[in-house]
Amino acid sequence: MDFNHVINQRRAVNFFDTTQEIPEALIHQVIDMASKTPSSFNLQPWSLMALTHIEDKLRLQRHAMNQPKVSEAPVTFVVLGDRKGWTDENPFVERAFQEMIKTGAATDESRNWFSGARKKLYGGDEETQLAFACKNAGFFSMSLMLAAKSLGLDTHPMDGFDQAAVKKEFSIPDHYWIPVLIAMGYFDQTKVLSPPKWRKSVDDILVRFES
Ligand SMILES: Cc1cc2nc3c(=O)[nH]c(=O)nc-3n(C[C@H](O)[C@H](O)[C@H](O)COP(=O)(O)O)c2cc1C
Repeated sequence: MDFNHVINQRRAVNFFDTTQEIPEALIHQVIDMASKTPSSFNLQPWSLMALTHIEDKLRLQRHAMNQPKVSEAPVTFVVLGDRKGWTDENPFVERAFQEMIKTGAATDESRNWFSGARKKLYGGDEETQLAFACKNAGFFSMSLMLAAKSLGLDTHPMDGFDQAAVKKEFSIPDHYWIPVLIAMGYFDQTKVLSPPKWRKSVDDILVRFES
């Protein structure tokens, strides 16, 4: 599918066809495409819970303003951003470093520099760590929604949920933050999609600040 088509046709759809499952291989294909998302130092501090069982989706829906799409979509993702995904203790940080050595982007001597740079950039305070988790997992979420559209699937992002309650319900460790839930499936063709929403113009988006 042409990218222009993908970006213009992606919509947050409210109604999913409850009779159409998504083959597991297709779910994996969407996630694999989204895995190409860029991230800080290529640390990829994102994970996904993929809820496909109705009981699990209903457990989530109860903490998501009872939005029916949470359980009507064949799969609803809980996106997780790792607030500690930059620390020396995180196994993917070591993996990223080893991969940098393999490609010649780092040497063993760079270990202290790499550790110091991560601490300086992301270790400042709670807000900085939250921003690290959410910006990276947010980019990942957008890739996932566009990947889904390119493969003929529809999605709906949601931040209408109770962060603490969802974490408790699914025993999600505290170092994760949930930037968004994403329902994914096929639009229910018996429903009417709302007209495309307005967007800020290029002039609205471009700003500058003079002192
Ligand atoms: C981070 C984020 C959170 C959102 N949360 C909700 C939500 O909880 N419930 C809902 O109905 N729509 C939610 N939306 C959907 C937006 O309302 C929708 O994307 C926006 O109106 C633009 O419409 P479009 O995606 O169809 O172009 C959310 C979108 C984003 C990006």
